[in-house]
Amino acid sequence: MSDRIRRFVETMQIQPNDRVLEIGCGHGVAATLVCADLDGGRYLAIDRSQKMIAAAATRNAAFVQAGVARFMLGSLESLDLGGEQFDKVFAMRVRLFIEDPERAHALARRWLAPGGRLFVEYDEPKKMS
Ligand SMILES: C[S@@+](CC[C@H](N)C(=O)[O-])C[C@H]1O[C@@H](n2cnc3c(N)ncnc32)[C@H](O)[C@@H]1O
Repeated sequence: MSDRIRRFVETMQIQPNDRVLEIGCGHGVAATLVCADLDGGRYLAIDRSQKMIAAAATRNAAFVQAGVARFMLGSLESLDLGGEQFDKVFAMRVRLFIEDPERAHALARRWLAPGGRLFVEYDEPKKMS
């Protein structure tokens, strides 16, 4: 388990009833930590990669079966969530947040419930020499 992801999830202080959206879930590592904190709340992940969505759903199959987690193919730029809103929206290492932060924040904020919060981290993954 990555310390980076664990620290990030801790900063969000997930509450049992939170409705949580992750943009760019990758392998679904943060999903596992978030879902473990939920009791009555819900988690939705989106990712534009079919491969990553499949991997994340497999990793978190128990939470999917329990109706706590959903994994959906789609991009931050074009996904229509039909008015669904979230208490916490987060994105880690999703490139649009560094390439065009104003646009990325605006796109993510449309899914926040009143009083909801957006959490973003972008650091370059370390290169192996
Ligand atoms: C570098 S990985 C980071 C994965 C994970 N969040 C982490 O921090 O380990 C970026 C992930 O975001 C997805 N992604 C990148 N841009 C996206 C976008 N505009 N909309 C949805 N997913 C995106 C990629 O497919 C990839 O799975």
